[in-house]
Amino acid sequence: MNIRLVKGTWDSIECDALMIPLFEDDSDQEELTSTLDQKLDGLLGELKSTEEWKGKEGRVSVIHRPDQLGAGRVILLGAGKRKNYNAQSVRSLMIKAVGHVKGYNFKRLAVHGLSQTDPELSFQAAAEGAVIATYEGDDYKTKDRAPNFIEDILFVVDEETGGIEEAIKRGEILGEATNLARRLINEPGNRVNPSSLAQTATDLADKYSLEIEVLGEPEMEKRGMGAVLAVARGSDEPARFIVLRHRGAPENDAKPIVLVGKGVTFDSGGLSLKSPKSMEGMKSDKAGGCVVLAAMQAIAQLQLKKNIVGLIPAVENLPSGRALRPGDVIRSMSGKTIEVLNTDAEGRLILADALCFGRQLEPEYMVDVATLTGACVIALGDLRAGLFSNHDEICQKLLQAAERSGEKFWRLPLDDEYRKELDSSIADIKNVGGRWGGAIIAAKFLEEFVEGVPWCHLDIAGVDLSKENQGLKGPTGFGVRTLVEMVSS
Ligand code: BES
Ligand code: MN
Ligand code: ZN
Repeated sequence: MNIRLVKGTWDSIECDALMIPLFEDDSDQEELTSTLDQKLDGLLGELKSTEEWKGKEGRVSVIHRPDQLGAGRVILLGAGKRKNYNAQSVRSLMIKAVGHVKGYNFKRLAVHGLSQTDPELSFQAAAEGAVIATYEGDDYKTKDRAPNFIEDILFVVDEETGGIEEAIKRGEILGEATNLARRLINEPGNRVNPSSLAQTATDLADKYSLEIEVLGEPEMEKRGMGAVLAVARGSDEPARFIVLRHRGAPENDAKPIVLVGKGVTFDSGGLSLKSPKSMEGMKSDKAGGCVVLAAMQAIAQLQLKKNIVGLIPAVENLPSGRALRPGDVIRSMSGKTIEVLNTDAEGRLILADALCFGRQLEPEYMVDVATLTGACVIALGDLRAGLFSNHDEICQKLLQAAERSGEKFWRLPLDDEYRKELDSSIADIKNVGGRWGGAIIAAKFLEEFVEGVPWCHLDIAGVDLSKENQGLKGPTGFGVRTLVEMVSS
């Protein structure tokens, strides 16, 4: 699928369908709506007077064979109220619109009237939305797979302004990275295990010229990564620790930015076994790792002039005769000992070693992404991800990036009083506290291994999958765009 900017007149452009976003109130679009109404022989006015078309956000209305236009169809897209319209609306609109027609045999789509206050970001978001809409999630259907016939999407503008083409390219890269994450997250546990995830990372590294190092269990042993190894013990699948490096900084000694993603390819809970219902979605417990992998792809494609390292501890959490037991004490890479009282709190264990590994790279800052706690889902649902940070400036940086990406976060606290929940009588720390404030306590656990490096923790449990998050069903790839926007700034 090819997305392009064309300067020209929207009414004569030849295409299968011409999409036009229209507001509820047309104060800003009088010229467009009156020409459109004329070309449609008064149909637009008629639709409005019969209340068939009111421009309500998310509405799609198809007008067939408009004979005074170059297009085979005109598709009106409800853009809602002018005052609420922004780049996020543009992205959602495109997801909706392209999703609506992608099963039709339309090869060439045109879109007119997208730009608004921030044209660059709007066109970027439009391209993101168009690409994101093409991933369906039905990868393993042998019949009735939703096809995508679209070959070209043309963004039609009256006047070309600088920077839009780059913005569209950037949007395509971010959209493709989002879809890569979605596709990987969607892979079932029998298809993706720690070794195959590492192989995917290796293929990606070859394709986009990233440096890669995959640590096997003997290497992890040597480095003392006792927490990752402990979680992996219950599974026949050996652990992998994936290190991806993008070296883009002009100065050799520039401090890296470290991104860490939880890569639990399946989380049964281990001996602290989950119930069947709560186990159902646990193939997605690798979402954080997939998000980091996909962000690294985009970072490489965008050739960012920064040094960025992606770390993915990958394990499968299963019960067996070799599995970690509740009550076991393990030694993490940092040297700190952990009393494991619940083997289902495994994400924080593997992240403890990964954050320690990251800290040793002396980074400018670290961001970890993890489907870490059910408590975060209870707190924030599937709209906003939990955000924790020990550093206000870095936290602001993340929130600004989220402003561009359209991904929503909510900052939660890290008061030291919460830490006492994790006091252990036998070891330095235990891996679970009481029942209340679970997302915060998990973050307090991680903070222990960050040791003062500027850091953000993104708990994406809940937002990683969605019933209907900004027009997406299933895995969302939540976090990819925010990470890339953050390291770009
Ligand atoms: N992967 C889960 C968290 C999760 C829950 C993600 C629901 C997505 C949806 C994590 O490993 C886990 O099991 N956490 C436990 C921690 C508890 C034992 C302290 C939880 O949240 O129940
Ligand atoms: Mn778990
Ligand atoms: Zn988990």
